[in-house]
Amino acid sequence: MNVNLQHWRLDVDTQGIATATLDKAGESANSLSAEVLREFSSLLDQLDVYPPKGLIIRSGKAAGFIAGADISEFSQLDTAEKGRALVERGWKLFNRLEAVKYPTLALVRGHCLGGGLELALACRYLLAVDESGTKMGLPEVMLGIFPGWGGMLRLPQRVGPAAALDMMLTGKTLDAKRAKKMGLADDCVPPRVMEMAARQLVVSGQPRRPLPFMQKLMNGPLKSVVANGARKQVARKARPQHYPAPYAIIDLWQKHDGNALAAPEVVDRIIASPTARNLVRVFGLQERLKGFGKDSDFKARRVHVIGAGVMGGDIAAWCALRGMTVTLQDQALERIAPALKRAQSLFVKKLRDPLKARAAFDRLIPDPQGDGVPHADVIIEAIFENVEAKHALFRALEPRMKPGAVLATNTSSLKLEDLRTVLHRPERLVGIHFFNPVSMMPLVEVVEAEGADPTVVQAACAFVKQIDKLPLPVKSAPGFLVNAVLAPYMLAAMRAVDEGISPETVDEAMLAFGMPMGPIELIDTVGLDIAMAAGKQLAGGADAPKCLLQRVKKNLLGKKSGQGFYAWSEGKPQKGSAGSVPAGLAERLVKPLIDRTERLVAEGIIGDAELADAGVIFGTGFAPFTGGPLNYRKSV
Ligand code: NAI
Repeated sequence: MNVNLQHWRLDVDTQGIATATLDKAGESANSLSAEVLREFSSLLDQLDVYPPKGLIIRSGKAAGFIAGADISEFSQLDTAEKGRALVERGWKLFNRLEAVKYPTLALVRGHCLGGGLELALACRYLLAVDESGTKMGLPEVMLGIFPGWGGMLRLPQRVGPAAALDMMLTGKTLDAKRAKKMGLADDCVPPRVMEMAARQLVVSGQPRRPLPFMQKLMNGPLKSVVANGARKQVARKARPQHYPAPYAIIDLWQKHDGNALAAPEVVDRIIASPTARNLVRVFGLQERLKGFGKDSDFKARRVHVIGAGVMGGDIAAWCALRGMTVTLQDQALERIAPALKRAQSLFVKKLRDPLKARAAFDRLIPDPQGDGVPHADVIIEAIFENVEAKHALFRALEPRMKPGAVLATNTSSLKLEDLRTVLHRPERLVGIHFFNPVSMMPLVEVVEAEGADPTVVQAACAFVKQIDKLPLPVKSAPGFLVNAVLAPYMLAAMRAVDEGISPETVDEAMLAFGMPMGPIELIDTVGLDIAMAAGKQLAGGADAPKCLLQRVKKNLLGKKSGQGFYAWSEGKPQKGSAGSVPAGLAERLVKPLIDRTERLVAEGIIGDAELADAGVIFGTGFAPFTGGPLNYRKSV
């Protein structure tokens, strides 16, 4: 057919089945820009004139189906009219797609997110390809916006409102099998038969699985019950003044059947909110972190971890989870056993498939003798925080390592410049600093010592990216970025307790500011002894707070000992009422953190202000809706 298209290709086979292939020009992944949607509309015009027997929509990219709307277009939404026009564009086009006379099918392989899933939902059939990269979801809420192109209407119809709201309010994604099980996908097939299966299904006339009766009620007369429940759930995690989008999603579904155009004031408010602007910025920062190490062709297959304690054990498990073959060394097998036990539960929880969990477990090899050293592409040292111990280890390691292997230390507080003095090639030592708990924390600091080999630093970044963490390059300095900014913040929080403000009030002040956890609860979680040691190193000679000293003396070390600032029961702190928070308390507590961040940028410890914001958000959970500490300071 002779439509002049840049991004789409339209083919019709001998049976009259048309295939529209999206292969966005000049990009490695598909996104739905205004251009792409305009072309899709003219493609539908063409098919109106020559209706096919069926239409299959698929991607021409290796990287997946469609990653979502084109995020770069969001930053151009400077007026309410433009915001509404953006919503209208996709809403109307996908309504039109849903209404075409011929059957339609989305062949979903790889990422199918946001606007991509909204397009797929407007097709009669959704065929999911069963492979690990296939993921379907509506993550708009994470950008501070809502799925306005029909997602809020069609996802609840397809999978029922409870599951749909859960997906839309958390941004979580489904793999192919789960999508089939929940009724989002009509079928789920392996890649080798996908074309044939798509052609059969699109003309099959097979009716869609109806929504169970109860789900229909919940999407109809019982909407308000479901909506109220969802509001309560959201309120536990996000305050409306910080994160208005999840509340808007519930309202739009409940009152307007997911049609945002029926509530233009909501569209204006959400799109113009600083939260949406900042979260889109944070998304961009995250992409920037993912870009580190992409120029390196370093690829790790085998990892050797030394020290199977809190950190080393979990680092080894994480690497095995991410497909590497890992040898884990410690002084004795008994020391490795607890790490293997934790790894087992991580694999079961994350992989949800006994065969895959088994395979991951097989990749994690206890290695008390260090037999893995000569084969490893990356060696991570995570033994006791002691210079002599690390020296002895490095001396023994270096002659046994492969020439191109990366040698990394996970040290939090020792200087790389001191640790590497025993190496013949000191420039090869790099810091790869994970945070606790390893499986939950997205950031990893990659520490460059004075005079380090830049290719090693690049390779370390590439490795961090390979295991799906966000690498943040930092210069070697006490506390690097994350611990250096947390220390003065925790100190300020404990000084407030010394002044007589209750831990509950201090925590509430920062929760109201938008932190995911209060600083006193954070101290209880990391351990008062660790906070004390960090304070000694990072507080610049200031006296330890009395409230901390008293508790450490009595061996009240926080969560791990059952009592710190709070009593802990079943993993939760038992908090009393917070009472009223003194005016200006949050600003006072957060000021030292922001000051320190500024200083680290000025001193060149961290590349620039954007990276500092990214590091503090992904390393400490600093209120993402503010766009990070430095962005926050600029905005007030
Ligand atoms: P840990 O005390 O839980 O584990 C250390 C392990 O290393 C022990 O199992 C010990 O048997 C083993 N080990 C000691 N010397 C050894 C040697 N010569 N050969 C083989 N194994 C040896 O310590 P943790 O907390 O895991 O810390 C390890 C490193 O990670 C330290 O450098 C620490 O600064 C750093 N780190 C710790 C964090 C934390 O939150 N605990 C966070 C980030 C870094």
